[in-house]
Amino acid sequence: MKTLIVYATKYGSTEKCAKLLSDKLSSEVELCNLKLEKNIDLSKYDKVIIGTSVYMGRIRKEINEFFTNNLNELITKKLGVFQCSMSQGADAVTQIENTFPKELVNNAVAKEHFGGEFSFDKMNFFERFIVKMVSKKDNNNQPIDTSKKISNISEQRISEFAQAMNDA
Ligand SMILES: Cc1cc2nc3c(=O)[nH]c(=O)nc-3n(C[C@H](O)[C@H](O)[C@H](O)COP(=O)(O)O)c2cc1C
Repeated sequence: MKTLIVYATKYGSTEKCAKLLSDKLSSEVELCNLKLEKNIDLSKYDKVIIGTSVYMGRIRKEINEFFTNNLNELITKKLGVFQCSMSQGADAVTQIENTFPKELVNNAVAKEHFGGEFSFDKMNFFERFIVKMVSKKDNNNQPIDTSKKISNISEQRISEFAQAMNDA
């Protein structure tokens, strides 16, 4: 039984989550960053996990392309889908439902949002400006501090997701 984790990331948080997840899976796991590797032989895998970050309400374009090219084969697998994003609670759940193809979300044995990170040092001026505008206050109702990285990645949700995939 082999598991593939295929992911797309801009600044590395989705990759970080994919690696944390791979350590918690009981089967043999291969990781694939879609920016570096596009030709994937899905027939080698029983389980496929797809992860992406979200920017301005959209998933990464590499993941969209991957869906377009592989949807029919993907729905024959044991599937897991996850997102890295700064949305929380019901908003994050709705974001998953709205941005992934319905066939995949409905077939997935695990679907979860793992949280995300703001790496201000890696963002361009435009991105920093958007983040400041959209999230004027942090969780403690203080103005966002752009001098340090903000992370709310949930190891617990990653563990629960891994458990669901291991049981499938
Ligand atoms: C310009 C910008 C737009 C973003 N838009 C969204 C969004 O629409 N919804 C959301 O939940 N998170 C949003 N985020 C947060 C990212 O999804 C989060 O930073 C994520 O951890 C990035 O992961 P990556 O480094 O793997 O690309 C945005 C971040 C930036 C910088």
